[in-house]
Amino acid sequence: MKRTLTDRELLTELEGVAAREVDRHLSMAKEWHPHDYVPWDDGRNFAALGGVDWDPEQSALSDTAKAAMITNLLTEDNLPSYHREIAQHFSRDGAWGTWVGRWTAEENKHSVVMRDYLVVTRGVDPVALERARMDHMTAGFDPGDNGMLDSVSYVTFQELATRVSHRNTGKACGDPIADRMLARVAADENLHMMFYRNIVEAALDVAPDQAAAAICKVLTHFQMPGAGMANFRRNAVLIAKGGIYDLRQHLDEVVQPVLRKWKFFERTDFGPEGERHRDEIALFLDDLADKAVTFEEARDRALVRDARRAEQEATA
Ligand SMILES: [Fe+2]
Ligand SMILES: [Fe+2]
Repeated sequence: MKRTLTDRELLTELEGVAAREVDRHLSMAKEWHPHDYVPWDDGRNFAALGGVDWDPEQSALSDTAKAAMITNLLTEDNLPSYHREIAQHFSRDGAWGTWVGRWTAEENKHSVVMRDYLVVTRGVDPVALERARMDHMTAGFDPGDNGMLDSVSYVTFQELATRVSHRNTGKACGDPIADRMLARVAADENLHMMFYRNIVEAALDVAPDQAAAAICKVLTHFQMPGAGMANFRRNAVLIAKGGIYDLRQHLDEVVQPVLRKWKFFERTDFGPEGERHRDEIALFLDDLADKAVTFEEARDRALVRDARRAEQEATA
């Protein structure tokens, strides 16, 4: 049986892969500018500068789109917490340090463009948004007791989850400008996911049992990063009901494609520990599939109820 590698040893073992992945990322990433995605002509001053303050009537967004936009933006705002997490585990040396800097700079664009869009179009209350940002960033994100492999496994799934969520939020906004902006952000998240996913793939070769343990821990404890923000439960329900991010998408568009890419269930190099974690993941996925069906059935029933109620109100 192979000896357990320390985080330091893993970073050294995987440094070549990280360097290759940084190069691949830089060759694929396209330069873009947040100001090109915001309809500035729609903007006007607020009361402090002689204009009019925000009023709910001014928003063209549905409750679902508002909840998704706020949740996604606050998550992007919390970048310093995620930077801390990645920087601690990857170090500032060599390709790892290059990635940490570049990834952080790219992520920062996401909150810039989304906030500019929301403030200019008056999509949400800017005062409530700013207060929520202060609270959320002050509290920060506590990843718990994580090692390097836990951290990189988590961000693999999380980047892909945010990709799905941004993409569907764009559609839910009912505005081609928002759709285009969030498609752009989602494309970044996809490239980020590929970097982390390919690091984990290499880690599965270098330390299969350790990587399997990390993947198992992350999947069975997965929480979207918004947990802990104001109104998270209410917003999470709206987001799931609205088809922006639900269990089905989590399973079919996030978890399964990544496991397939890793050939996780076909690998033959696991020891007893790796096998045990793989079995645990298989059981977990069966359970998740059952829960997804239960959720979808409940959601369908609720949608029928809502439609009936709307009909009754219309004819009353
Ligand atoms: Fe992002
Ligand atoms: Fe990202």
